[in-house]
Amino acid sequence: MIKTTIDDCRFPELVQAAKEALQNSYSPYSNYKVGAALLTEQGKIFTGCNVENGSYGASNCAERTAVFKAVSEGQRRFTAIAIAAEDTETPPFPCGICRQVISEFCSQETPVLIYDGNGAVYNAELGELIPHAFDFKRE
Ligand code: THU
Repeated sequence: MIKTTIDDCRFPELVQAAKEALQNSYSPYSNYKVGAALLTEQGKIFTGCNVENGSYGASNCAERTAVFKAVSEGQRRFTAIAIAAEDTETPPFPCGICRQVISEFCSQETPVLIYDGNGAVYNAELGELIPHAFDFKRE
């Protein structure tokens, strides 16, 4: 028997929120628009897009925009994340820095839904994307 949770029921809504968020992408340098949406433990959705910079290095990915928006609004536990790009050969698998940032506020089992803009959704658990994430044990 496959066990579904209330969160699973919200996956389509989460992917849709990520797709809408990419419309605000500021990406004049790469022309690669990305949107991300997080589901919080309290059932709220936070979104973000990539925001590039002429210096390149100061650019911010969609996932970190969404995480920083949520955390700055007091939300620290996320139960699912969706990431969307437009129709492209390059599915928006999160970069290494974003994987580490997401792992700070999620569990290894947190579902990560990756939409390639062309009808396909890759469904991974965070632990598959970042096994052995650095997890600083505070005293
Ligand atoms: N980017 C994201 O926002 N998320 C990803 O998952 C992969 C890459 C952005 C960073 C940059 O603005 C553009 O995509 C090209 O790397």
